[in-house]
Amino acid sequence: HIAEQVSQKLNTLASKATKGLVDRVEAKGGYLNIFINTGKAAELIINEVLKQKNSFGSSPIGNGKTIVLEYSSPNIGKLFHYGHLRNTVIGHSLRQLFTFFGYKIIGVNHLGDWGTGFGALIYAYKQWGNEKKLRGPRPVEHMLELYKNFHKEAEKNPELEAKAREWFKKLEDGDTEAQAIWSAFHTTSLKEFKRLYALLNVDFESWNGEAFYNDKMTQIVDELKQKELAIEDQGALIVRLDELNITPCMLIKSDGATTYALRDLAALKYRVQTYHPERVVYVVGSEQRLHFQQIFAVGKKADWPHTASWVHVPYGLYLMPGGGKMATRAGETVFLEDVIKQAIHKVLKIIEEKNPKLKQKGRTAKAVAVGAIFFGDLSNDRIKDVVFDWDKILDFEGDTGPYVQYSYARTSAILRKAKEQNIRVKRKVDGKVFTAPQEKALALLLSRFGYNAKNAMLQARPHLVAQYLLQLSRTFSEYYHAVPVLKAAKPGQQEPSDVQKQARLALIAAIRQVLANGIRLLGMPVVEEM
Ligand code: ARG
Repeated sequence: HIAEQVSQKLNTLASKATKGLVDRVEAKGGYLNIFINTGKAAELIINEVLKQKNSFGSSPIGNGKTIVLEYSSPNIGKLFHYGHLRNTVIGHSLRQLFTFFGYKIIGVNHLGDWGTGFGALIYAYKQWGNEKKLRGPRPVEHMLELYKNFHKEAEKNPELEAKAREWFKKLEDGDTEAQAIWSAFHTTSLKEFKRLYALLNVDFESWNGEAFYNDKMTQIVDELKQKELAIEDQGALIVRLDELNITPCMLIKSDGATTYALRDLAALKYRVQTYHPERVVYVVGSEQRLHFQQIFAVGKKADWPHTASWVHVPYGLYLMPGGGKMATRAGETVFLEDVIKQAIHKVLKIIEEKNPKLKQKGRTAKAVAVGAIFFGDLSNDRIKDVVFDWDKILDFEGDTGPYVQYSYARTSAILRKAKEQNIRVKRKVDGKVFTAPQEKALALLLSRFGYNAKNAMLQARPHLVAQYLLQLSRTFSEYYHAVPVLKAAKPGQQEPSDVQKQARLALIAAIRQVLANGIRLLGMPVVEEM
């Protein structure tokens, strides 16, 4: 009864107060139903998109706050494999998402450049190394060869393992020869990786890998001993985590070598002290879950600041189309750079078939291929395993990066055509002309972009944006087939009036803007023409 009285009053008020956004208010079973005028809603949302442009959908929640975001982190002297590609793609997208919401990002590439493996590599280099191969374009190939030699010989002669430990010890103690060889591995390997990063348009603020913490581990050990957390156990130094039901964290092995975990503890403390971040985020495969539970638990026990905001963002594996794990099998080396270049070549061929007159085909092919890799990954929930199938992710009509980029290019083409006809896009349009169901669906979708982007950021799940983009692209495509924008395109279609043209063009411009914003959040390039 009260609802009824209220609704009568509201009915007259609401329409005025909301400038026509609310059509009417109705009382039903004790509830108030508010009816929104979709034409008006479309008008308002289009106006907002075209006003806010690149920042449409964002909010300043991260302003003044820093996030240390670790991603990629391949191993020096080893292959940059598909797991690192997933990591790089997810991390790069999270970086765009956090930045969009105002956070300052310190992107860290925590290179695997320390550990006993380097002792083996130094020894092997001294035995069988080839300086020319090391300085060539494929140093990693040579290093893999050296590893292989080492392991083959070590099977026959177990003394080699001792040699490897000896050389790693020398390296840790700053021996000049060991350092010089390590340094050559580092520089040449990194140069090779950087070519790949350039191809993917990925970058980092910090390249501090595990080696960087060589001189910062003693402090950690001292601190943990002093706090009575680190204890001797059968010659090793460990931190017990029994009360959390977690296996102990090993800091120093019984042979005296420092561990991966100890370097991670030093890295965590360094990040917290150096950057005062509001969060430290680790994009690392789900197989290292226990490792991060241990690291975070030790940090908490040691009472380091901001313990609540350390997060491990895990992800699943890349699988081959047959279902197998995409690891490098013995004897087979897959260079990702080659694989990506092949993909660019494939796209170039498709473009040459479909659009031979396109300018800058090479640049476009690169953008589309790289976008396909990003989208092929990011359209899946990161925690799930993903089947990596080139044919599927490059399919221009599938649920793919090329499809989304193509939708964007189509909106650009419509706007170019309008410009040729001297029709200017106006921000304020008359919503009354929006009567097609696709127009209503599009207005609703546009208004939901920010919600999806924010959830993607909060949950570190870029696929929420990717799935949104697919939906927007599909709806746009349906719209474009059903409703003429600049002129009637099919028999039976009515020639749009000037008011209709203006409104529809503004809607297209808004779709284009939101597609661009979303594509950017995934870390993909946009192309104006393809
Ligand atoms: N380099 C390691 C690997 O390739 C990943 C490093 C992960 N990051 C870390 N802070 N532990 O498996």
